[in-house]
Amino acid sequence: MPDLSTTYLGLNLKNPLVASASPLSKKVDTVKKLEDAGVAAVVMYSLFEEQIVHESKALDFFLSHGSESFAEALTYFPSLESYNVGPEAYLELIAKIKKSVSIPVIGSLNGITTGGWVDYAKKIEEAGADALELNIYFVPTDPDVPAVDLEQEHLDLVNDVRMQVKIPLAVKLSPFFTSLPNLATRLVKAGANGLVLFNRFMQPDMDVETLEVVPTINLSTSNDLRLPLRWIAILYGKVKADLALTSGVHTHTDVLKAMMAGANVAMMASELIENGVKTVPGILAGMTEWMTNFEYESVKQMQGSMSQKAVTEPAAFERANYMKALTSYDNRLAI
Ligand SMILES: Cc1cc2nc3c(=O)[nH]c(=O)nc-3n(C[C@H](O)[C@H](O)[C@H](O)COP(=O)(O)O)c2cc1C
Repeated sequence: MPDLSTTYLGLNLKNPLVASASPLSKKVDTVKKLEDAGVAAVVMYSLFEEQIVHESKALDFFLSHGSESFAEALTYFPSLESYNVGPEAYLELIAKIKKSVSIPVIGSLNGITTGGWVDYAKKIEEAGADALELNIYFVPTDPDVPAVDLEQEHLDLVNDVRMQVKIPLAVKLSPFFTSLPNLATRLVKAGANGLVLFNRFMQPDMDVETLEVVPTINLSTSNDLRLPLRWIAILYGKVKADLALTSGVHTHTDVLKAMMAGANVAMMASELIENGVKTVPGILAGMTEWMTNFEYESVKQMQGSMSQKAVTEPAAFERANYMKALTSYDNRLAI
């Protein structure tokens, strides 16, 4: 039997399948089901900066105005019910999940600014999380703010969170950076032990009749794998951080590709949301069968074997590939 084990953020995992942040971690029962199905670790859904700041502003308001101003406060602080549960319930849930499962549990904070809310990193550690993922989800819209300033804000935030915790820290990023390898290197210097590539941004749609911007989040397909695959292959061996691939992992072949590119783990959300935990044993069996047929003894043996450093044609990950792909349609035109 090939050895599927891997390591991620200093954690020993029985295989590379990790459930990434999603509503699946909102219930202890579901996390237990993920563990029973064979998932090796779980990332909690995120606790958002906005939730924490909202809660602390509401508390300040009550303390300074007294409880008789409850009705007034409710209008001043609109309901966050559309978000997840509040910060304290989040911490309690981590503690409960930790008691119920033996797989590692990774907490998740989602925010963009430094400040008091970052204390929750420590609270997540105290609740028992084995590691922390920091999701920096930022959409730049101000033409006066240059990239270098925005990157510095990312680095300051990572540095601040690092100061709060001793547990390993992974940073989940968007693909929209001018020089990702440079930023990745600086994030590691600021204290990141792992990089999670990539966040799938919600792409708002438009309703042309009501003239509303409609928040939309589509589940991924295996086609979405190629963006993180390329960047993991480029970063592997160049940054001193573990790499987690997220976006487009649906099949055992997707996991194998992630490993060959150089990922430590392959994270799944859409596949688990769409097909449930029953998909996991099939993916693990598919990996085992494929590795047996192709005489791989372990996942570790294949990790990075198709990274940019390892392949015979490194330019295939760069511009050369682009020209080749464009010309591949020359003889396939329907006209
Ligand atoms: C319904 C839903 C909720 C999600 N919630 C979170 C979240 O709370 N925090 C986070 O970092 N990512 C969140 N994600 C992003 C996923 O963790 C994952 O990175 C992304 O969906 C790409 O992986 P996939 O192709 O396997 O879905 C969410 C995704 C979905 C579909």
